[in-house]
Amino acid sequence: LPESFKLNTGASIPAIGLGTWQAKPGEVGRAVLHALKVGYRHLDCALIYQNENEVGDAIRQSGVPREDIFITSKVWNTYQANVAECLEQTLKSLQTDYLDLYLIHWPVRLVPNESSALFPVNKDGTRAVDRSWNQQDTWRQMEEVCKSGKVKAIGVSNWSIPYLEHLEKTWKIIPAVNQVELHPYNPQHKLKKWCKEKGILLQAYCPLGSTSSPLLGDPDIGALAEKYKVSPATVLISYQVNRGCIVLPKSVTPARIEQNLTAIPIGAEDMAVLESMAANGKQQRVNTPLWGHDLGFDDWYNA
Ligand code: A2P
Repeated sequence: LPESFKLNTGASIPAIGLGTWQAKPGEVGRAVLHALKVGYRHLDCALIYQNENEVGDAIRQSGVPREDIFITSKVWNTYQANVAECLEQTLKSLQTDYLDLYLIHWPVRLVPNESSALFPVNKDGTRAVDRSWNQQDTWRQMEEVCKSGKVKAIGVSNWSIPYLEHLEKTWKIIPAVNQVELHPYNPQHKLKKWCKEKGILLQAYCPLGSTSSPLLGDPDIGALAEKYKVSPATVLISYQVNRGCIVLPKSVTPARIEQNLTAIPIGAEDMAVLESMAANGKQQRVNTPLWGHDLGFDDWYNA
């Protein structure tokens, strides 16, 4: 089983990275420090997680050289017209002068207003989405920060095929990855195929089904866990690596952090079971976008 994958830039990316979303302040630093101690060399961050300062402190405390760690971060929606400004904040928080990978967090621009700098709403309570904003303009800025060398590779997150097709019309640099929710209840086969044809790798967020996961208690996944003598979480992490996807499990629990760094080979028949669970009726997303289904997100459920 590969321990790393190759991006379309030629750079290598560890197959398993630690997710840092929803890790509370105070917890995330400890989790990152432990992860680096037990061998993780890949961290998935974002400005909107509002904990990059602590992640940066933990990286420095770990003593692991910067160049040995693959670090990803993401432009937040309210910064889509100011990508370079968002990047500067992240670099400062993480205490580094470059990122290995920088992603557009969602294909949505939110306009900051007096209601909030990060989650602005309109007077009627709806999200302050800029519907006239063209994502191609955000991508152009991503290409610029990539050329500046402050970011070694660029990609997107939460992009469905229609959005990618729109971007494709003007991209000069092909995204290196698309980071999306992936697990057996939401395998996104069509998106995976589309991206593979363009040389875009998928990164799996919420690979375990997030908090109060329906997947960890699924009898079919439990049966595979018993067969391979591993935990259901290890089955879910291994599933992604076996299908060629980068996987970003999150945990703040030391023993789980250690466990989640292991992926095992899964036989073709068992992979077929995991790959067809959604087609057989177990279809569920655990992270529902906040920006409204009128933006073309509906097709995610049937991918
Ligand atoms: P905790 O952080 O308390 O350890 P996902 O990566 O799909 O978003 O899932 C994250 C959730 O799964 C968190 O609630 C995390 O709990 C839990 N989790 C992480 N690793 C494991 C594991 N090996 N076994 C069971 N639950 C896990």
